Amino acid sequence: MNASASLAALRSQAPVIAPSMLKCDFGNLRREIELLDQGQASVLHWDVMDGHFVPNLSYGAMVISRSRPLTRAIFDAHLMISDPAKYVDEYVHAGCEAITFHIEAVPQPVELLRRIRSRGCLAGIAINPQTPVTALATAVGECDLVLVMSVEPGFGGQSFIAGSSEKVAAVRALFGPSIVISIDGGIGTQTISGPAAAGCDLFVAGSSVFDAPDYGQAIQSMAALARTARNAS
Ligand code: DX5
Ligand code: ZN
Repeated sequence: MNASASLAALRSQAPVIAPSMLKCDFGNLRREIELLDQGQASVLHWDVMDGHFVPNLSYGAMVISRSRPLTRAIFDAHLMISDPAKYVDEYVHAGCEAITFHIEAVPQPVELLRRIRSRGCLAGIAINPQTPVTALATAVGECDLVLVMSVEPGFGGQSFIAGSSEKVAAVRALFGPSIVISIDGGIGTQTISGPAAAGCDLFVAGSSVFDAPDYGQAIQSMAALARTARNAS
């Protein structure tokens, strides 16, 4: 899918649940993707970790590229790596529609955001819990997506950090209505309503999808809660 079609899909389908592939069964990746397709997951979130920017190592562009032919879902790459500029083209070629890197890794992000957009991908910037939203000011008008981390990046299965919904609201105020806001970490039925009411569009969910007996049911019940909270706000 090209960038404008992906953006239109994300906006029109919001609130969208994006399963975090970090939590899937890598011994059965093909089957996991089939189950997510059956569960109507329209976005898959790929967590790339380098053991340097975060204290954990996951997978890279090769795994994503081999998974690309298995589904038509939008591929959303979350690069938790120290030098994204060096590797970003690999994720373009792997078939990712959205590529997000961290403001803590690239404090002057404009050039890299422009490069991602010039390759026909949606450009995203992610922000850690400790970093103030004001650090993103230079990215205003230069990106398509802002990813608010609601846990310290590096591991799935952590608890949602209180105050993350307020951060979503601050990002919305800074970037305006057209930006896609995503939240990542500790999202489940107990935590999704706060960020949804604050204006979040895309909800990354690892444990709450992959620990559930029925992925589709987990996705649909979270989406329903997010829709209710969004409509009530
Ligand atoms: C954490 C990753 C998340 C993580 C989410 O660094 O960016 O995407 O896998 O997992 P849960 O939903 O279990 O917190
Ligand atoms: Zn992530």
